[in-house]
Amino acid sequence: MPTRYALIGSGHRAQMYLDAIAGPHADVAELVALLDVNPARREFHRDRIPAFADVVLAGPEQLEDIIREQQVDRVIVTSVDRLHAEHVVRALEAGADVIVEKPLTIDAPSARAIQDAIDRTGGSVVVTFNYRYSPRNTALKQVIASGEIGDVVSVSFEWVLDTQHGADYFRRWHRDKTNSGGLFIHKAAHHFDLVNWWIADTPARVYARGGLRFYGQDNAVARGRAPLPERGTHDGAHDPFELDLRSDERLEALYLQAEQHDGYQRDRSVFDAGITTEDNLTAIVDYAGGPVLTYALNAHSPWEGYRVAINGTAGRAELEVIERAEVIAQDEDGHAHVDPSAVAVTAPDAGVRERGERLVVQKHFEPARRVEIPEGVGGHGGGDALLLRDVFVGPTQDELGRPSDHRDGLRAISVGICGNESLATGLPVGVTEFLGLDLTRDDAVEAAR
Ligand SMILES: NC(=O)c1ccc[n+]([C@@H]2O[C@H](COP(=O)([O-])OP(=O)(O)OC[C@H]3O[C@@H](n4cnc5c(N)ncnc54)[C@H](O)[C@@H]3O)[C@@H](O)[C@H]2O)c1
Repeated sequence: MPTRYALIGSGHRAQMYLDAIAGPHADVAELVALLDVNPARREFHRDRIPAFADVVLAGPEQLEDIIREQQVDRVIVTSVDRLHAEHVVRALEAGADVIVEKPLTIDAPSARAIQDAIDRTGGSVVVTFNYRYSPRNTALKQVIASGEIGDVVSVSFEWVLDTQHGADYFRRWHRDKTNSGGLFIHKAAHHFDLVNWWIADTPARVYARGGLRFYGQDNAVARGRAPLPERGTHDGAHDPFELDLRSDERLEALYLQAEQHDGYQRDRSVFDAGITTEDNLTAIVDYAGGPVLTYALNAHSPWEGYRVAINGTAGRAELEVIERAEVIAQDEDGHAHVDPSAVAVTAPDAGVRERGERLVVQKHFEPARRVEIPEGVGGHGGGDALLLRDVFVGPTQDELGRPSDHRDGLRAISVGICGNESLATGLPVGVTEFLGLDLTRDDAVEAAR
């Protein structure tokens, strides 16, 4: 009998799970219900896939009834971050297990509520961290786990989001920090999970600095920048920071045509008033086992990618990734125009900066050596397919420990939650004290060592 699934939050991210249920995992998974506040987005996904013709469509208030009446085994939560905790807890209480997108939730009280619900119900919560499965990130994990660079002493990690992808967070619901916890949680949960997993350790204390330095009305006015239209769906020449939802059929159907139901605008000006999410963030994180992480995130970079260096007692590993070398603000008509779904623009002077990845390991007193990164097929270098297999078929015996549970989800958000508190107070924040949860409690960390 296939496992019976309901999905709540049928927007953009839902597609990866729904395609997996209808496609490669149709033998083990069956979708019985799609829940969302917005009927147009529920219908969009039902109508996309013929196998979903008889799926029940419902509002979020019906979650418990649907779980009971449709005998749902597992609920996939792909709603907005602020609602994850409510949806996870309600699904668990109604007797279903849960798969939830990152971030598990956005603040300390709701993190405790999820842990309590798991303790009370005995239900299972899988948090999906697709970045672990990306071949380059897996390759770095293998290097560290092999012991080649010795014991990890410190990590330096910089992630830059460009004026296409990074800007997009300031148009959507993420622009309001109360929806997403800001990029420290919404985006950096991926990054902190990677570090936790790479070095098999648990964050213990966080000191953070940062703010909104580029996007938002005050910054634009201070730089003398002319205001953009409130949203990017006007005619005529476009500013590169605008998004025209009509330029992409999927965006138009999912958001522009769905606005009549909930008034949600996916294409707000990034230089509007009312943006509360930070665009520059830094953190120093002490780990329970001794290593220290220095982390930086910037959301208005001209190129996109990351650099991480792991310093060990026997040497150093460095991973450099350029996901997009540049964003060019020209479409074929000569208008300044940026489409967030467009593929990477190739640099005309590609020698300066080229899309690519490089993992280099160097032991003390030895030359550097480049580590081959295997090529995968499909999203995130083949990582998505591996993740979905673990999620739908069941975790494989993975010596690298890629399948992640709610404890990993809590560890990943713990840095951002404490980072947000540190931003507010200017002080370092102890993870166990602030969260009220001992994240070193289970033996997963020790087992992974
Ligand atoms: N792992 C990744 O790489 C990745 C990528 C993108 C998004 N995500 C995650 O997926 C989640 C969804 O993001 P998205 O990009 O699909 O956003 P989205 O805005 O496209 O989708 C969110 C959906 O939640 C719905 N929603 C709002 N209020 C609701 C309610 N009360 N009950 C039920 N549904 C409600 C919205 O109508 C919308 O359809 C987020 O948590 C995000 O962090 C993860």
